[in-house]
Amino acid sequence: MTDTNPPSPSRRSLLGWGGAGLALGAAAAGGAVAVARAGDDARPEGASAGAAVEFHGTHQAGIATPVQDRLHFAAFDVTTGDRSAFVQLLKDWTRAARRMTAGKPVGEGAYGGLPEAPPDDTGEALGLRPSRLTLTIGFGPSLFERFGLGDRRPEALVDLPRFAGDNLDGSRSDGDLCVQACADDPQVAVHAIRNLARIGMGRVVIRWSQLGFGKISSTTPEKQTPRNLMGFKDGTRNIAGTDTARLKKFVWVDERDGPDWMVGGSYLVARRIRMHIETWDRTSLQEQEDVFGRDKGEGAPVGRAKERDEPFLKAMKPDAHVRLAHPDSNDGATILRRGYSFTDGTDGLGRLDAGLFFLAYQRDPRTGFIRIQRNLATDALNEYIQHVGSAVFAIPPGVRDTDDWWGRTLFSEEA
Ligand code: HEM
Repeated sequence: MTDTNPPSPSRRSLLGWGGAGLALGAAAAGGAVAVARAGDDARPEGASAGAAVEFHGTHQAGIATPVQDRLHFAAFDVTTGDRSAFVQLLKDWTRAARRMTAGKPVGEGAYGGLPEAPPDDTGEALGLRPSRLTLTIGFGPSLFERFGLGDRRPEALVDLPRFAGDNLDGSRSDGDLCVQACADDPQVAVHAIRNLARIGMGRVVIRWSQLGFGKISSTTPEKQTPRNLMGFKDGTRNIAGTDTARLKKFVWVDERDGPDWMVGGSYLVARRIRMHIETWDRTSLQEQEDVFGRDKGEGAPVGRAKERDEPFLKAMKPDAHVRLAHPDSNDGATILRRGYSFTDGTDGLGRLDAGLFFLAYQRDPRTGFIRIQRNLATDALNEYIQHVGSAVFAIPPGVRDTDDWWGRTLFSEEA
């Protein structure tokens, strides 16, 4: 199956800005848009803001790729029992994702087609830059109860256990599929999810979705570390998107792990974590710093001067978040965090419904998120947060080229 859309110049690329010019050149040459390769782009984020991120590769973009500013995350449930209709959806989605990440409208575009038919594209991203849009697909445990996929479910795709303090809302949890859309422009991310949902009509339906802003957990350590809504630098000791050795060790599924169809993929744990912001805001600075084991200004670990100094865990309170989450307290467990802040209005009691939409990628959730989250049962931070949504997904490997499609390795017999 090939992308049959002609390599016509995108309307966005005709606007004449630098990044789209590049995209146009690559598209006109009949190839995919090669701008920023997932996992090996060490350029400062600002320099490439607005550009297109390569959709094809060994791994899906949106994991090791430099983190964009905005998120629209959607979990879907399958509504068709017809395996071939579902496979066709994955192909349709891939074709649309390939175009949208290159800054092009879906199909024949938003106007100029048959007046009697709704346009292929909804139109709200016309004139906007590709904005480093990445689209990352995942398959939830419940998908493997469909289409005879039972024996293809990876062992590592476990149902998450119940953790201390969980207060999960089923309507914000789980899902057969997910798509993570990240972009520097929220309208570009929302446009992508909206158009995928539209293409999916009759085959999938959105189960829940989450908007995020103010990325936390940068994967480009040379940049200033972003702050979470509690005002602390977040992501200091994250895996850098350029650190291929640690990505290989902790994030990408390896041949030895199996199953074959997952090699080059990863596992995603998503948690909607509400912050009790009002309580936090009445907490003394000392208590706030004790909770994390880092100072609020510089972000340095207790007893150290600089943010990037190695944490000295024993100097921290026994229940400090960093002490409990650190690999040395978890048999070396290490995850790639890629979360975003959220504020979804107020809760009817005058409190902000705000927090952290936590996204963590890892090679195996049992030795990654689950290992760490169990250790966080005694975390001092728990007084100020509550996990209210939860999901886990198998993230298949990347789409290799224009003949490939999302999920091919799962649905084709040969991997
Ligand atoms: C609202 C909830 C959370 C907040 C506000 C938060 C905040 C922070 C902050 C400020 C740091 C220190 C800076 C850094 O190294 O990134 C940190 C570190 C870390 N957090 Fe969290 N976190 C939250 C939830 C979680 C959860 C649920 C997990 C995993 C189960 C987790 C895992 C980690 C890890 C692995 C580190 C790095 C520890 C190290 O190597 O020093 N965090 N977090």
